[in-house]
This record gives sequence, structure tokens and C-alpha cells, in this order.
Amino acid sequence: DPRALVIVAAGSGTRLGYGIPKAAVPLAGRSILSRALDAVTAELGLGLLVVVVPPDPSAEATRQQLVAEANAVEATGVRVVVVSGGSTRASSVNEGLAAVQEHARHHDWSAERTTVLIHDAARPLTPPEVFQRVLQAVESGAEAVVPAVPVTDTIKQVSAAGTDASAELEIVGSTPARSQLRAVQTPQGFTLDFLERALEHTMGLSDEETAALTDEAMIAEHLGVEVAVVAGHPRALKITTETDLLTATALLQETPM
Ligand code: CTP
Ligand code: MG
Repeated sequence: DPRALVIVAAGSGTRLGYGIPKAAVPLAGRSILSRALDAVTAELGLGLLVVVVPPDPSAEATRQQLVAEANAVEATGVRVVVVSGGSTRASSVNEGLAAVQEHARHHDWSAERTTVLIHDAARPLTPPEVFQRVLQAVESGAEAVVPAVPVTDTIKQVSAAGTDASAELEIVGSTPARSQLRAVQTPQGFTLDFLERALEHTMGLSDEETAALTDEAMIAEHLGVEVAVVAGHPRALKITTETDLLTATALLQETPM
């Protein structure tokens, strides 16, 4: 069955603070995007790779670098399409999805049988085994699949305080049982059919409601579609801050990829 991978790499990397798009920031000598592309191996059996790059023409040199890195994957025999992203992750995903839909139309891919993986370039060390687990779960019949790891912190739900003593502070509402919590990673996997229904659903939502949907799995939850969970991996950590970049650099030095 057809398999497509969308890598979203259009974010600005504001929290990392390098002044260039995060995907272009060097990680042990190569860009975060090019590290992420290392996971694209022949074993994944991809019919299509879509890389979503920053739309901003003010970073044109950086953009061209990312486009070249993405296109270099064609040497491995995978068809590559590069598109420009939007101002939010969700809009970047939608640009990538549009490219998948166009390819699917031209190649008569059935929407029910096509698996689409959506992956953050910001998780550049995600091992191929995680991609395989997600692909396998979708192809075994799940419409939506997320990789996840147990959380180590105790997580508390908080809200704005109402009482005088702590008026400026948040107060703890509740503490969900840690054993039931998971930190969700990417790649997340879906049938193309599900993603098309998800797109239709979100088009009917307000901007505020859309902004609250931080990943595609959340749309599945809204639509009452079961989201299956497979094992993620500690190396699939997301690079958000300088600390994460240091962690990823250390991981690469320990066991290079
Ligand atoms: N992303 C994207 N388009 C956007 C925003 C985010 O393609 N408009 C992608 C990022 O490139 C990243 C993933 O979504 O691979 C997760 O986003 P995040 O970690 O928030 O990255 P940035 O948005 O770049 O970082 P920041 O929020 O600090 O600016
Ligand atoms: Mg962001």
C-alpha cells in the first residue's frame, strides 16, 4: 500500500533563538533538517516525501539550503516534493497534505489504503524503528496512530487563582495519575482518508478552535476516531530550546547516526 511522509520544517525557531529557521540550525555539524532526513531509508518504502519549508523570503539563502537538502533525498530513489509552509504548524501540515493529495490523484492512490506520516523536523533523531511501528499500526487498520513515551514529571492541571492570598499565582486543580499520561511524539500516522475528513472538519471551525488543535491526533479525538498509541523513543525528543539542542548533540556523540 502507498506510503507518504510529510516533514514539517517551516517553523521559525523563535524559542531556540538562532535568528534562522530551526530546521537550518546546525546539530553536530549538519542542519536539523538533514539529520531528520537520515531517517528516510529505503526500508520505509515511501512512495513520496513532502518537505514543508519556511515561506519567508527574508531567509532566502536558508530556504534554498533546506530545499537542496530535501531534494538530495531523491538520490535514494524516493520522489521528493518541496512546498512552502504557513504561519502555524497546522497550516504547514495542510500545505504538505495538499501535495500528498495531488500526488495521490496522479498515481491513483486509494485514500483508504494510503498511509501518511506527519513528522516534525524538530525531532531529528527519531529512529527508523518508530516510523516502522507507526506505519505498521496504520496498515493493520488504525486510522490514527501516535508514538508516545511515559512521562517522568508529575503533571498538574492548574488554573488562575481566585483567592486573595495567591491572587497573582496559579493554583493546582488536579493531578492526573502519572501512569495514565504519555508524552506524544512524531511521526504520527493516518490514513489519507482520515486526513481528508479532518481537513473538512477543521474548515468549519473558528480560528480560536483551530489554534487549540495542536496536532492531527486531536482532530481524531474531536471526530470520535480512535487514536492508537505505539511506543515512541527517547531519541525522538523535540528540539525546542538550547538545552534540547545540547541534549541532541550529546546523544549524537554517544551513538552517532
Ligand atoms: N512548523 C511548521 N510551520 C510552522 C510552525 C511550525 O512547519 N508555521 C514545524 C516546525 O518546523 C517543527 C514542528 O512544526 O518541525 C514543531 O514546531 P515547533 O517545535 O514549535 O517549531 P518552531 O515553530 O519553529 O519553534 P518556535 O515555536 O520556538 O518558533
Ligand atoms: Mg512553534
